[in-house]
Amino acid sequence: MEKTYLMIKPDGVQRGLIGRIVARLEDKGFKLVAAKLIRVTEEQAKRHYAEHEGKDFFPELVAFITSGPVFAMVWEGDDVVALSRMLIGKTKVGEALPGTIRGDFASHTPLNLIHGSDSPESAQREIANFFAPDELTEYNKDIAIWT
Ligand code: TYD
Ligand code: MG
Repeated sequence: MEKTYLMIKPDGVQRGLIGRIVARLEDKGFKLVAAKLIRVTEEQAKRHYAEHEGKDFFPELVAFITSGPVFAMVWEGDDVVALSRMLIGKTKVGEALPGTIRGDFASHTPLNLIHGSDSPESAQREIANFFAPDELTEYNKDIAIWT
């Protein structure tokens, strides 16, 4: 099953939006397989955003993502990388449509609430940057928890 790395950024944690964002992902039917509230280190931030190194917004981006706790998650599902990015909405808040997480809750780039991997390959790299393999759980969502 495909996996993706989703991370509620410091603005989402500060604004108390963890629950509502997670609810949207659960509503869609994705499966949560790992989650933790962490402080991103400078090294993790630079690795995570390596593709943007050298761009004018890079220093601000690293400063922002390390500025407070984030809620790091791994979600599983068919085509979850692309579908979760549809739920998240466009990068720039001026382009994020109503109905998406960024479109409904974000009003200033780069305070766009949530990160989502852009490909299955990026997801693998990003998951490894934030989670040890034994932190990922396996369970069947279709059965009751007491069986
Ligand atoms: P990017 O990977 O292009 O977007 P996404 O988060 O949708 O995958 O960019 C990473 C983050 O960098 C983005 O969430 C916000 C910030 N950013 C800016 O501040 N200005 C910009 O022009 C871009 C492209 C990104
Ligand atoms: Mg990206």
